Amino acid sequence: MTEIYLRKTWYVAAWSGDLGRQPLRRVFLEEPVVLYRNQNGDPIALQDRCPHRFVPLSLGTLCGDDIQCAYHGLRFDGSGRCTLNPHGDKTIPEALRVGTYRLAERHGIVWIWMGDAALADAAAIPDFSIVGDSSRYAAAGGYTHVKANYQLITDNLLDLSHVEFLHPGLRTEGGHAPRLELKQEGDTVWSMRYRDNVPPNQLLKMFWSDRLGDSRAHMRWDPPSLLMLDVGITGVGRPVEEGVAVPSAHLLTPETARTTHYHWAFLRNARIHDEALTATIKALGNQAFDKEDKPIIEWQQANMGTTDLAALHPVLLQPDAPAARARRVLAQRIAQERTTGVSA
Ligand code: FES
Ligand SMILES: [Fe+2]
Repeated sequence: MTEIYLRKTWYVAAWSGDLGRQPLRRVFLEEPVVLYRNQNGDPIALQDRCPHRFVPLSLGTLCGDDIQCAYHGLRFDGSGRCTLNPHGDKTIPEALRVGTYRLAERHGIVWIWMGDAALADAAAIPDFSIVGDSSRYAAAGGYTHVKANYQLITDNLLDLSHVEFLHPGLRTEGGHAPRLELKQEGDTVWSMRYRDNVPPNQLLKMFWSDRLGDSRAHMRWDPPSLLMLDVGITGVGRPVEEGVAVPSAHLLTPETARTTHYHWAFLRNARIHDEALTATIKALGNQAFDKEDKPIIEWQQANMGTTDLAALHPVLLQPDAPAARARRVLAQRIAQERTTGVSA
């Protein structure tokens, strides 16, 4: 079977704020993982499968820094070592260990490395610093579980043309036809859309008067499936810095070949202490991603009957070019990882 995941890379495991002293089970790349924080607040990730009878450790309880299996009480520490065997003479066989995963916490996000831990380097995490910069940006974040291959969601996010049809609340009315651009720097792909002399859409209107402006939507993709969208409007013919920006992060982690964890966050650098506004923007995100994108992508996946898009020989339209480029970069990285053991 063809490998469909890049493994020696960083994925999003959880929002930092969603991880605490309650064990959290999540499947990443078809591997069950239990996540929790130790008493110091450091995040821990272990294989979520007890080596005794293979039940999920996440059904158990935390005892100090250790997790105790719900079935027969074995305890494991954050390094995967068994620390307590309450049975027989209480000896701890060497085989009583669980696998661990490297984690890094930055930008308000817990990142997980799904390959050889010795190769994990937190410096390789793409820049999402504005997501965690609460002194300058307010964040309205959410989580959506999507029953579709993660690359279909990447396709959706890099294809900015669908906004006009699928998202009435984010649509930009009037003006000239949008200009689309594709840019690639190294393995980073940009899908850029400009629309001049238009009124602000519903989101931008919260920060901008009704007057016409030049709007933009620039989606940045980094392998394997980490996206950042810069959306904004500025006075007609004026520099970007003078306008307003409402960027958003779109972070996709494959759960299985046909299911995906989707962490998203709308950010803004204006009215950052306005909590009612944060709630309004979060509702807009829920509407767009949960109620509009998710059903259509799930229908698409179900209707395709396969996770291999190329096998269906899809027609490519102009707005599909960035997604096609990103798919090519990812396929190259996966092939490289398979043949050489490293992807970059
Ligand atoms: S299955 Fe975990 S202790 Fe037996
Ligand atoms: Fe969308």
